[in-house]
Amino acid sequence: MRKSLIAGNWKMYKTPGESVEFVKSLIENVGNHTDRDILVCPPFTSLHAVSRILSKSSIKIGAQNVHFEDEGAFTGEISTKMLIDIGVEYIICGHSERRNIFGESNQIINKKVKKVANAGMKPILCIGEKIEERERRKTFDVLRTQLQESLDGFKDTSLLTIAYEPVWAIGTGKNATPEQAEEVHLFIRSVIEKMFNKNVSDEIQILYGGSVKPDNIDSIMKMQNIDGVLVGGASLKVDSFCRIINYKI
Ligand code: PGA
Repeated sequence: MRKSLIAGNWKMYKTPGESVEFVKSLIENVGNHTDRDILVCPPFTSLHAVSRILSKSSIKIGAQNVHFEDEGAFTGEISTKMLIDIGVEYIICGHSERRNIFGESNQIINKKVKKVANAGMKPILCIGEKIEERERRKTFDVLRTQLQESLDGFKDTSLLTIAYEPVWAIGTGKNATPEQAEEVHLFIRSVIEKMFNKNVSDEIQILYGGSVKPDNIDSIMKMQNIDGVLVGGASLKVDSFCRIINYKI
């Protein structure tokens, strides 16, 4: 049985002070879970303070982006070396906002996921189709290309998590139905099994992301091939994030 992973992507929300208040309250309210991991991904400026508080809990910490070099003249960038030093374990790579607003290509994302794994950290590779691609029935082609190019030469499957986030479902309140997501997760699993030439089912978690909310989490997590969720908006309030963490199947 794969353990599930419930991850919160805070995007560009919360000051360090707000972040600290949030995680203190999360620790008090979240309850004990052995079958699921909990992860928060605050903005860079909150990571250090949040990491100190979470080091006394089982809640994990991730960053939302990283550069693929250790150091250098890269104004405004952050390296894996800096993130490891403050206890960061996961890094979201290739979120659709990075792809579509900041122009990250599969080739750049490929360098990032490899760098993250080489540093012994866990990349969460995000993939997903746009609405016009879905309407043209190109979903599987787009996802296959994103997987093949972003994971070209990637080896350490034990560190890898994949997040399927259809772009049309992110921040729109319009989630994929559990059945739509399940169909895509099965497809992703079959592509990565071919790519890595082995049964990766017990190693690689595949998360769903896109308008996950307290009122749809239970039906999403009932799906056999959905191993967890990457949550944006609904991870910003302790009560809604706790309800998502405490999903019932
Ligand atoms: P959302 O964002 O839950 O607000 O749709 C998900 C994400 O971008 O990871």
